[in-house]
Amino acid sequence: MFPCDFAWGAGTAAYQIEGGWQADGKGPSIWDTFCHEKGRVFKEQNGDVACNSYELWEKDLECIQQLGLTHYRLSLSWARLLPNGTTQHVNQKGVQYYNKVIDDLLACNVSPMVTLYHFDLPQALQDQGGWKSPGIATVFDSYAKFCFQTFGDRVKLWITINEPYVCAKLGHEDGIHAPGLKEPGIAAYLVGHNMLRAHAMAWHSYNSFYRPKQRGAVSLAINSDWLEPLRPGCNEDIAATERDLAFTLGWFAWPVFVTGDYPEIMRSAIDSQSKQLGYSGGSRLPRFSQDEPAILGTADFFALNHYTSRKVKPGGGCGQMLCMKSDRDAEEVLDPSWSICGVSWLAVVPHGLRKLLKYIKDTFNNPAVYITENGFSQVGPLQIEDVQRCEFYKDTISEVAKAIEEDGVNVRGYFAWSLLDNFEWADGFSVRFGLFHVDFSDPKLSRTKYWSGQEYAKIIMKYKRATDVQ
Ligand code: NOJ
Repeated sequence: MFPCDFAWGAGTAAYQIEGGWQADGKGPSIWDTFCHEKGRVFKEQNGDVACNSYELWEKDLECIQQLGLTHYRLSLSWARLLPNGTTQHVNQKGVQYYNKVIDDLLACNVSPMVTLYHFDLPQALQDQGGWKSPGIATVFDSYAKFCFQTFGDRVKLWITINEPYVCAKLGHEDGIHAPGLKEPGIAAYLVGHNMLRAHAMAWHSYNSFYRPKQRGAVSLAINSDWLEPLRPGCNEDIAATERDLAFTLGWFAWPVFVTGDYPEIMRSAIDSQSKQLGYSGGSRLPRFSQDEPAILGTADFFALNHYTSRKVKPGGGCGQMLCMKSDRDAEEVLDPSWSICGVSWLAVVPHGLRKLLKYIKDTFNNPAVYITENGFSQVGPLQIEDVQRCEFYKDTISEVAKAIEEDGVNVRGYFAWSLLDNFEWADGFSVRFGLFHVDFSDPKLSRTKYWSGQEYAKIIMKYKRATDVQ
């Protein structure tokens, strides 16, 4: 049974839905720049207009109400609020926009969960080194304080940074996300480090200056697949799975929830690989300074983005070059029994979520968990009657129920990704994650509920009723 105050939500992110990329004094972000470069995104698409939620927010609110959500997760565009990234110049129109969104939600009895950073760094900050530069942590902290100060009287659930793993690796190692850097084996570790420092500073600011009055909760959203050994009794595969977990979930969760430092398996793997390749620049995995705010304990709940599962064996490296894949020496494979739905990386494995939730409970000392993202995508011909996605939500949510009832995991909320079809990063508009379809060929960008939207609304209603009866 779900607790009576369980958060039933759906999520979006500013760059993926808002559009209005130059409207009313907004500054450019790294995703504006990235998309406007040739060859970066599917069919040269971009988020210039996207779902135009900057102008059509009321339409989104109607969708939220149709689903009966208790919570809505949105992100703030840093460059819409602070066009050059710093509090020296505040764009009041941006403040007005988010004030309206938050006030409208509350007026409809929907609680906002607000992400401060969902991949869209102000370009002005990228020009000064972006997340690779150590100074970014204090700039982020000022931005965070500005947001707590401006919106924190009404926002009680905060996510500082969304998926630091994806920002670090896809943006700075693989070059397939903004800012499009390919500096394998070095930059991603530095970026991840500065993101953890930035998160911790913001958490401490909230804790000292805002929590006493505002009484909210702050975390960072960590993405993780469920990983298990390809051959269950095989020691090499078990070790590879542990390494893989350390380099993904552990990279960000271990410092925050367990030790204040990176998993030992991760550091020793990186250092031994450096040695083997004759790299003499010191450890590529930075160390936290004792003079800065502690990292340990800087999450008031565990925010989990989860989509899929993998089986793991050793391998997958990149030869004699420095790179993260060689450091982690873990190759991920799909089980042939899993169906792939929509985008190629999304194998549908609802029970993987239950196992991962149990793992989080056991490994991170039974934290309160919000599933801040989980969803199912569609590619190719449009299907409003998306029966498979309906099944996916039913199956997955029943696995969450089992995690709560049978495994005793303290799950506090579930946010479907996404409220709307939107700009799916390098895949542009070709991958549709919405509970509502958005017709991007219609100038009105009309929203139509998928069957899965209807199904999710039914699920929410059913569980809400059950707790009302209790
Ligand atoms: C995680 C990201 O936070 C979100 O922006 C993205 O659209 C989904 N994954 C689906 O790929």
